Amino acid sequence: MGSAHTASLAPFQPRRPRDTLGRPLSDLRISVTDRCNFRCPYCMPRERYHEHYRFLKSSERLSFEEIVQLTRLFLQLGARKLRITGGEPLLRAGLAELIGDLTTLPGVDDVALTTNGVLLPQHAAELRAAGLQRVTVSLDSLDPQVFARMAGDLGSPDEVLAGIAAAQRAGLAPIKINAVVQRGINEHTVLPLLEHFRGTGITVRLIEYMDVGNRNDWQRAQVVPSKELLALIGARWPLVPLARAHVAEVAERHAYADGAGEIGLISSVSQPFCGDCSRARLSSDGVLYTCLFANHGLDLRAPLRAGASDEELLAVIRGCWSARADRYSELRGQAEAPAAPRVEMNHVGG
Ligand code: GTP
Ligand code: 5AD
Ligand code: SF4
Ligand code: SF4
Repeated sequence: MGSAHTASLAPFQPRRPRDTLGRPLSDLRISVTDRCNFRCPYCMPRERYHEHYRFLKSSERLSFEEIVQLTRLFLQLGARKLRITGGEPLLRAGLAELIGDLTTLPGVDDVALTTNGVLLPQHAAELRAAGLQRVTVSLDSLDPQVFARMAGDLGSPDEVLAGIAAAQRAGLAPIKINAVVQRGINEHTVLPLLEHFRGTGITVRLIEYMDVGNRNDWQRAQVVPSKELLALIGARWPLVPLARAHVAEVAERHAYADGAGEIGLISSVSQPFCGDCSRARLSSDGVLYTCLFANHGLDLRAPLRAGASDEELLAVIRGCWSARADRYSELRGQAEAPAAPRVEMNHVGG
């Protein structure tokens, strides 16, 4: 694009901010609720998220109108991909309405939803009708006992599979499965999980267990490095490495040599990908976080509700992104790594 053209657009299309490491803002992950119908011990351990836990009140959460207003601003700053997360986003009443509004905003290239899947049978068709293109379903194991342990004794593999089937029937595609792998807990069920989805067009992504939040008592010994999984999988089904679909992609992709599809490995502990991290996260109460491991964020709800203009809000978001220096996964374990307390995963989304 010529510089004259860029200059003529400048007043209407503010320049995309770059952070202190030169990274643009291209993804916005929007958490719509901090509640979940599971209690995965690595995310919302039952001992902490009990019946007296104080979840956000509806007045504390951003309304759909407020989410749309903020999203428009992020799109003006360069965001192109939107992901709806939670907690469990399908617990938010009327979510399809929000999806409908978001998918029609100018500048949106991709809208995806991360869900644990059990509410998909009720909602997949309306989500698709509202314009949602695809879903990512969390499913750590197909073994009922292992599943129960990893989801906190709620839901079942059959319910999640029914949700996935509903998503397929509704035409949501491509479907991805996210499985967190924990040493000694579900690593022995990884191959059966992959086998189940081989040849279905559904991509399973294996995620290294991370030290998100402050409540999961994470230990490095519980991480199964992707390299180890790759060797295990490759010994069973030969794999061919694939190029990343785009520069900021978090998953390293591999195809089955026999043509049965592909898998992804998300190695944020053993091979951090902060260098290309272009993700902004908006919590359900309107706080902007520039890292999954942030210990503070920028409250956008207060100025929004105090009547700040779009220009004023754009200025604070731009300022926040321009000052961003986060690279937690690269610093993990070093003295420079930000200390806890960190934001919780159910608050800021996965
Ligand atoms: P696609 O567009 O479908 O490829 O989405 P994605 O690759 O961003 O995947 P998704 O949103 O499903 O993220 C998968 C998992 O990767 C998350 O649940 C996290 O566990 C991890 N992850 C995603 N983004 C980040 C990040 O910015 N930092 C770290 N450390 N982990 C991340
Ligand atoms: N480590 C890695 N992934 C996690 N997720 C939640 N907590 C963790 C963690 N500690 C993943 C879930 C889901 C997404 C929302 O984030 O499995 O796929
Ligand atoms: Fe809920 Fe997902 Fe967290 Fe599990 S990982 S408790 S399904 S938000
Ligand atoms: Fe991005 Fe923070 Fe994850 Fe690094 S640790 S990839 S900066 S969210």
